[in-house]
Amino acid sequence: MERDAAEAFGGGLAVITGAGAGIGAGLARRAATLGMTVVAADIALDRAADVAALIEAQGGVAHAMKVDVARAEEMDSFAAEVHRRFGPVRLLINNAGIETVGFAWEIPADRWDATLDINIHGVVHGVRAFLPRMIASGEECWVANLSSVGGFGQMPIQTSYIMSKHAVQAFTECLALEVGLLDRDTPIHVCSVIPGMVRTRIFEATEADRGDVAVAHRTAMREAMAANGMDLDKACERIMDQMAQGKFWVSTQPRMTQMFVERRAAFLNAQAEPALAPELEPMFAHAR
Ligand SMILES: NC(=O)c1ccc[n+]([C@@H]2O[C@H](COP(=O)([O-])OP(=O)(O)OC[C@H]3O[C@@H](n4cnc5c(N)ncnc54)[C@H](O)[C@@H]3O)[C@@H](O)[C@H]2O)c1
Repeated sequence: MERDAAEAFGGGLAVITGAGAGIGAGLARRAATLGMTVVAADIALDRAADVAALIEAQGGVAHAMKVDVARAEEMDSFAAEVHRRFGPVRLLINNAGIETVGFAWEIPADRWDATLDINIHGVVHGVRAFLPRMIASGEECWVANLSSVGGFGQMPIQTSYIMSKHAVQAFTECLALEVGLLDRDTPIHVCSVIPGMVRTRIFEATEADRGDVAVAHRTAMREAMAANGMDLDKACERIMDQMAQGKFWVSTQPRMTQMFVERRAAFLNAQAEPALAPELEPMFAHAR
């Protein structure tokens, strides 16, 4: 029988990074609806505070906190403060992430650093800072990392982002194995959350977009997201439901995940040349 999400998560504490917008905000609202106390953490405290205020206005319990996931020492003190103020964490969602676009050789060095520091090291710091106390609590708990269908794909002009998501996917797979080595009576569920395309602000223009190709690509992706992206609340409900069942693979759009995984498997099996997926061809007309 499928486990009900409110039964799995209700009464527990959720810590969600990047909760000031998009999927993090949606998951924060959904977790609160399921009866969780939510720590909504973001580098933009004002956005996190708005999300926490909305949750409180709807009868939930939420606390906004500021953290930059890319900074190891900030994540350490954030985790210590969360534990001191609110007690054991049942659900940690390492969600904060940024999109970077442009030819690999045109992306400024500091944007490369930010992309890898937030998207990869932010997830690692989340696990490093929170998991020891979660293990020590002895209670059933969940660690969810935001991968992407891009974690299985190939895509030009989004190289740094795609690379970061391959890394998160690999990290999460190995983390699940490591947790499996622990001798425990209660499970620690490790989840790879794989959004397909969900309507958020991730493709809003940034000052780091360099060159016509970057600007055109971000515009094309933003328009594709507006036209074809999944509704945020529906996506977050699916994510929470699948996590409640202790699944490792957590997909907003399972058929899209399946397509990316099958293509990856075929590419590896054939040791094929990297190739642009046919349906993506039109999106890169501007880069030729
Ligand atoms: N939206 C999608 O279709 C999609 C698809 C695949 C994967 N994802 C992943 O989902 C996650 C959330 O993406 P989103 O679309 O909701 O993005 P978003 O841009 O709408 O929201 C991201 C939030 O993270 C915060 N953030 C950025 N840097 C941070 C930092 N250093 N420390 C703390 N917070 C920080 C931002 O302030 C923002 O509030 C990301 O990891 C993204 O890669 C999204």
